[in-house]
Amino acid sequence: MPSITINGRSLDFEPGETILQVALRHEVEVPHYCYHPGLSVVASCRICLAEVSAPNPRNDNKLEPFPKLVPTCQQPASDGMVVRTDSPKSIANQKQVMELLLINHPVDCPVCDQAGECHLQDYSYQYGRGESRFREDKIKQPKKSVGPNVLLYSDRCIMCTRCVRFTREVTGTGELMVDGRGSTEQIDVFPGMALDNELASNVIDLCPVGALLDKDFLFKQRVWFLTKTASIDGITASGDNIWVEHSDGEVRRIKPRENPEVNHWWITDEVRYGWKFVHSDDRLRMPAIAGHDGFDPNDAAGAWRESIAAANRTLETAVRGDGQGGGRLGMLVSPMLSCEDAYLLARWIRAIDPEATLAVGPVPVEGEDRTYGDYVVRAEKAPNARGVRRVLAGVVGDDSAVLDAAAFEQRAAGGAFAATVVTGNYPSDWVTPSFAAAITSRPFVLIDTLANRLADQATVLLPGATWVEKAGSFQNAADRVQAFERAIQPLDYCKSEAQIAIDLAAHHEGRTSVKYDAEQTRAEITAIPGLDGFRSEVARPEAKVSIESDMVTVDL
Ligand code: SF4
Ligand code: FES
Repeated sequence: MPSITINGRSLDFEPGETILQVALRHEVEVPHYCYHPGLSVVASCRICLAEVSAPNPRNDNKLEPFPKLVPTCQQPASDGMVVRTDSPKSIANQKQVMELLLINHPVDCPVCDQAGECHLQDYSYQYGRGESRFREDKIKQPKKSVGPNVLLYSDRCIMCTRCVRFTREVTGTGELMVDGRGSTEQIDVFPGMALDNELASNVIDLCPVGALLDKDFLFKQRVWFLTKTASIDGITASGDNIWVEHSDGEVRRIKPRENPEVNHWWITDEVRYGWKFVHSDDRLRMPAIAGHDGFDPNDAAGAWRESIAAANRTLETAVRGDGQGGGRLGMLVSPMLSCEDAYLLARWIRAIDPEATLAVGPVPVEGEDRTYGDYVVRAEKAPNARGVRRVLAGVVGDDSAVLDAAAFEQRAAGGAFAATVVTGNYPSDWVTPSFAAAITSRPFVLIDTLANRLADQATVLLPGATWVEKAGSFQNAADRVQAFERAIQPLDYCKSEAQIAIDLAAHHEGRTSVKYDAEQTRAEITAIPGLDGFRSEVARPEAKVSIESDMVTVDL
């Protein structure tokens, strides 16, 4: 394999790779601003310049230096090349570029949201001069709202044009431009336009400095207080890889997690901001039993104990019939739930009624899939319809026996079930009047997260947990099964559906309950005929699962 030497290290490369790409792949740091692997190369920021020598075939392959410093983001690697980003000439260039970029920069890090994850800040420490020689007045630039979610602080901009290229090359919407020339040039939206497309907020992540900021996150948290947990889009069927960034038990923001096989570097604004329902005032937070006065908020364990017993009693009585002829059970498993939730719930209800009917809950679809290059925005607004159906079919042993939501509603309305279990976990109210009418005519157990017209009428209500509050796996629209980790603890007295199912099954069988373990549950799913291989199929996050904040919060 051909190789080059960067700062004394010999590194192999694939033909076509640039020097910078080789360095980044081998985790050799070379400073860069304008280069981004998802965008065209413009080689405009000049901080990646290096001294390069290469064998000259017309001179016995003797190593000859290039006459000038070379932009490593643009220069293809060639066999035998020798690159120095740490030579006096290269270092002098790095210092000059940093000095130029900081001439008009306000250096307002103490009030800038980007502080702590700013390349200008990091490179100042590593490659800057340490002090400014500029004594004149700085050019001041305005702060602008360029779209519904994005603020532009023009005087922090280093003109890397990543944002402009993104709107031209990825979304094709072209809202952004470079206006003016020289030291007064600035990024702007074209007159009459707003940065308002479904991928718009990716420019916030692309901006290497604090020029493009997220209005939703503005001044909310210092980034060094955030813990990052690897997760998967829990709103749509995209399976986009994300970081859930949180502190003090609250989600603060969602960022894309790079995965070249799924979402590359991007997520939609829908995925980025769709988590707000997690902390909604409408969350169901405490179990409830119809006709019960309500539980002591200081006795969560007691509330759950009584509610678990009541849920099992409701279903066991319906199956036995108590002298009136027993009936069958039906369970609607939401496509918002994980494969593990679905499996444990199905196993529990089938232990009570081995012929219980299982169905996949409503799968919302909005319009059609849209593609931006290799990136697909999914019209299906549920993360796991395929995974839930697959696991339920495995438990039942027959794919055709798993109903869809419409057929389930029809059966329920026709009186086919003596009692039902209904799960929701949608980000907004999902219960239609006809579905409510079909379900409420018989006893039912509701496991849901947001208040809706079923919640007040449930025989037993058990508050579930959103995807950020639990671990599990989703099978996306491309049939890729991916694991996600728990980011925050379930709110108040909520529990993950998997844990609720384990507690229900343990009570039904008269055993002590155990703590839910996602890996162990996947091993159990793998033991089901037809689902062998499920566990090995699950893609787990490559990055460290959770990046903890190293900043200690001190109470003053
Ligand atoms: S706003 Fe940010 S991404 Fe856009 S050109 Fe300026 S520094 Fe680059
Ligand atoms: S990263 Fe090479 S010139 Fe900007």
